[in-house]
Amino acid sequence: MTILSIIGARPQFIKCAPLSRTLRKDHQEILVHTGQHYDQNMSDVFFSDLNIPKPDYNLAIGSASHGEQTGQMLIEIEKVILKEEPDMVLVYGDTNSTIAGALTASKLHIPVAHVEAGLRSFDRTMPEEINRVLTDHVSNLLFCPTETAVKNLKAEGITTGVHNVGDVMMDAVLYNSKIAEEKSTILGDLNLNAGQYLLATVHRPSNTDSRQNLTSIINAFVECGETIVFPVHPRTAKYMKQYGLWEKASANLVLTEPVGYLDMLKLTGSAKKVLTDSGGLQKEAYMLGVPCITLRENTEWVETVEAGWNVLVGAEYGEILESIGGFKGNSTQADIFGDGNASGRICEILDPRS
Ligand code: UD1
Ligand code: UDP
Repeated sequence: MTILSIIGARPQFIKCAPLSRTLRKDHQEILVHTGQHYDQNMSDVFFSDLNIPKPDYNLAIGSASHGEQTGQMLIEIEKVILKEEPDMVLVYGDTNSTIAGALTASKLHIPVAHVEAGLRSFDRTMPEEINRVLTDHVSNLLFCPTETAVKNLKAEGITTGVHNVGDVMMDAVLYNSKIAEEKSTILGDLNLNAGQYLLATVHRPSNTDSRQNLTSIINAFVECGETIVFPVHPRTAKYMKQYGLWEKASANLVLTEPVGYLDMLKLTGSAKKVLTDSGGLQKEAYMLGVPCITLRENTEWVETVEAGWNVLVGAEYGEILESIGGFKGNSTQADIFGDGNASGRICEILDPRS
């Protein structure tokens, strides 16, 4: 089969790495990078860290409003699909690159496979929620990471082509943990001791685009008395500067550029706790046995909360401080995200003969 895979944003590079490696054993893959993320530390670093093949196409769409960015993607992806005539289009997660790929392919009658299907936060103010719902409804194959995702799809009447395969991010964590141990020098570079710092990331519009929420989060970080390593997403850096928060960051807050995947795995695995509004990082904290404090009111990854490893605190100053002091996580771990062979299962389903 010729499979055209569409990626464009940081978490999609990570999700595609294990599946691309497995797919290419039996299929031809054409890799399309929309260019949604383009900084060296938001894009290239993941291709080198994870040995992802160079994309066959880079559409260089870049940053813009939702309509403009998605619209440009539709125009350019259509040209590639018409030229390459793939048997299937593969999309990942819930970004604008995901919906653009799925929508273009479905209108050209090319079957769509969605990796990380069925996730729901039930919060339609999140751009990702719109992307998830629409992508799932035009997909022919829906690769769910969890049983909750399968149930969410059933509740919307989607039962055909649905498979619980486990989470490709588990594949990535298991494959790369040892490599990160060997290669990453980030703890020494930042003068950190394992188990003696917290790791934070923030990039959701509900936090960054609200002066009140971002101020409350940064104030809690500054005042908690812990060392917090905070690799800052470019969107967040822009707003921190705009709100005068960059200058307020005190010595306990170690602000860095976004880091590569291997450094991030090392930072996460060695952290005392994680503070984040990222979807992927909530899961990785669980996979690596690190308690997670989620700076959101809701999550798609409800299993991590039910398991006692994740707590939702929103952007509430007092709750963030309280959980930094008090939230401990759990002592046991259930197998939520599969065994690290989601990619193998996806390939078997794509083509049972191979
Ligand atoms: C996007 C996804 C989000 C995902 C996140 C992963 C959508 C709607 N959102 O959010 O689901 O969790 O990626 O990180 O698709 N920028 C740069 N350099 C870059 C990329 C972005 O400076 O390489 C800045 C630009 O100012 C841009 C802003 O970050 O306007 C936001 O980028 P964008 O891709 O639109 O959204 P994210 O917040 O990154
Ligand atoms: N990540 C990274 N470097 C960073 C921040 C995050 O490698 O500086 C990784 C993180 O470990 C996870 C993924 O990026 O694998 C999550 O992406 P992000 O938080 O940008 O998006 P989301 O998962 O929320 O869509």
